[in-house]
Amino acid sequence: MNTLTLVEHPVLQHALATLRRRETPYHRFREELERASLILACEALRAIRTARITLNTPLEATEGAELDDAVVVVPILRAGLAMMSGFLQLVPEAMVGHLGMYRDERTHEPIDYYVNLPDGLANAHTLLVDPMLATGGSAVRAVDMVRRAGAERVSFVSLLAAPEGVHRLITAHPNIRIYAAALDRGLDANAFIRPGLGDAGDRAFGTER
Ligand code: PRP
Repeated sequence: MNTLTLVEHPVLQHALATLRRRETPYHRFREELERASLILACEALRAIRTARITLNTPLEATEGAELDDAVVVVPILRAGLAMMSGFLQLVPEAMVGHLGMYRDERTHEPIDYYVNLPDGLANAHTLLVDPMLATGGSAVRAVDMVRRAGAERVSFVSLLAAPEGVHRLITAHPNIRIYAAALDRGLDANAFIRPGLGDAGDRAFGTER
């Protein structure tokens, strides 16, 4: 199993350049993040199992495939919300869980404020979505939570990852699949991804101060 998949689709890389650019206004940022999430979702959903079926075309019987896994999408609030639409466009019947957490500015460790996960995670494929995998603290906490709720097959889908975050997540949860559009250089003293794109939540929701 490839633990980290970097998705190199040209449309995704074009979107990423717009997302990185300082001048991009919040509504364009949100639009591009949604477009990027659609491509990341296509890649991450390759891991979903299918079942062979027989069906009838208007002319004859033939074989096909249908999705055989329940899908649960779990955005990590807030920024993950701006990535959810891509997944729901591809799998409209997906259930949605929510995990609210933010990083403490001093310790950079996550602080939880909301947990709401659907039942049935044990038999589903769970996709955690958050544009930024920085120190990995939030990701590790999020995977801990869905695993505690029964999830076995778990993927973490981000836009940008830092090597530090990938290492921390893989060390804590070796069986997870990670998807990202880019692996950046590393973290700065404030635990921001460099070169990065700033704070994804603030840039997506127009709350930059
Ligand atoms: C950001 C980001 C991740 C987390 C990543 O959220 O969206 O959730 O930080 O950092 P980590 O890998 O070091 O844990 P933030 O705290 O800015 O909250 P927000 O989404 O509400 O803006």
